[in-house]
Formats: sequence, C-alpha cells, structure tokens
Amino acid sequence: MKTYLIAGNWKMNTTIASAQALASSVVESAHDLPQNVHLVLCPPSLYARTVVETIATNNAGSRVRVGLQNCHHEEKGAYTGDVSASMAKDIGCSYVITGHSERRQFSGETDGLINKKNHAVLAQGLTAIYCVGETLQERQAEETFTVIKKQMLGGLDGITVEQVENVVIAYEPVWAIGTGLAATAEQAQEVHEFIRAELSLLYGDKAKSIRILYGGSMNAENAQTLLAQPDIDGGLIGGASLKADSFLTIARSVVS
Ligand code: 13P
Repeated sequence: MKTYLIAGNWKMNTTIASAQALASSVVESAHDLPQNVHLVLCPPSLYARTVVETIATNNAGSRVRVGLQNCHHEEKGAYTGDVSASMAKDIGCSYVITGHSERRQFSGETDGLINKKNHAVLAQGLTAIYCVGETLQERQAEETFTVIKKQMLGGLDGITVEQVENVVIAYEPVWAIGTGLAATAEQAQEVHEFIRAELSLLYGDKAKSIRILYGGSMNAENAQTLLAQPDIDGGLIGGASLKADSFLTIARSVVS
C-alpha cells in the first residue's frame, strides 16, 4: 500500500494564536486519518516551535510533523535575518521546503543555490521537499519537460542514492499556484511520470520509493482525482491548508 504525504505550506499567513489553533484542529483529527497518510505542517518559521509543541501536547508526533518553508544553505554565521537547517532541527522540525517557485521568483533563488540548501537540509538528517515546476509561458512553449529536467539535475546535483531517501519532490506548476486552476489529473500524472523516469535515471530502483507530491490549487474537491494517479504520492497544499477542514478532507481523499 502506498504511503501518502500531505503537506500544508502556510506561506506568510497566520498569527501565533491562529497557527496554534490550526495546528490543534489538525492534530486532533490526525488519529482518525487512514493509516497510510502522514501530514506535515509548514508554518512561518517564527511559529514553527509553537506548532511543534502543539503537536507534542496532542501526542500526534508520528502522524504529524513540522517543516520550515525555507532555510539558509550555511549552518551559521553572519547572515542577517536568515535561519539554518540546523536551527530547524534544533526546534523539532523534520522537513524543509526548498526551491519553492515563490522563492525562485521573489528572492532570485537559482538551482545552484537551492542545491546547496538541499545539501544543508540533508546534512542535518531532515527531509527536503524540493519544488520544481514550469511557468505558463514555459508550458505554452512546450518547454515543460526541459525545465523540469534542468531543475531536477541542478537541485539534486551531488545527492547520493542514500541521501535521496530523505528527498521528496513537489511538482508545482507555477500557473496553478494560488490561481484556483489546478492541473488536470492527466497533466499532473504526465509530469509526475516524467519526474519518476528522471529519478530512475539518477537513482535506479530507488526512484520507485521517492515521493512525488502535486501542488497548485489542490483542494477538497479535486484532491481525490489527483491523488488517485499512479505517480502522485501526496500534495503540497497552500490556500486549502489554512483551514483544518479542507486540509483534512484532502488527507482523507487518499486511496487507502
Ligand atoms: P495553492 O494551494 O494556494 O495553490 O499553493 C500551492 C503551493 O504553492 C504550495 O507550496
């Protein structure tokens, strides 16, 4: 049976009070979810410790984990305003999202920099949720596979077959993020299959067990069809993760 990962990327939303409330509502229902679904909550870094504590209080530790949305590639030093993967680990996080398109777009992150972040995350024994995805312009120019391949090769450079056990890929077509226009199940499956094939070129048989999440306007209505696709192993959810009800409905949509 396939194990699914449903991750909520809260982006720059919530307050300390609402973050705590959202995490509480999610963990209270986590026990009732199908056994083959695990959850990750990625709040703003400032609230991550609170979310870790909320989960611990509710004793939901093995089903619900916490991740950061980004980290610096160095472990420590004179990098004003940044946080490191070792700090993420120190406060009890298990995951870090890397290469999100909003960071590529608004903070100028390149595959080279994101590759260093992936190495930094893995060096701490954490799991990287490495995001790839094409823009609308690239899709219309039929460059989707070229773009994804470049991002895969760049972001995973130097990552060994042992290390890749702690990598999750998130396919997030940029045109589907925050637009309400999710990829169709066929569009998503086609790219996920391509990603799986690229992973097998890099990592052989190990590719079968690497999780590939879909992200981009996944919601309570479309989750079931997307999650039923053979190469979709979960979701990275933005807007719909900010309400416990919709996030949990997505989690219940897995094939169990
Ligand atoms: P939306 O679900 O709001 O489209 O965001 C997806 C995303 O960017 C998750 O990382």
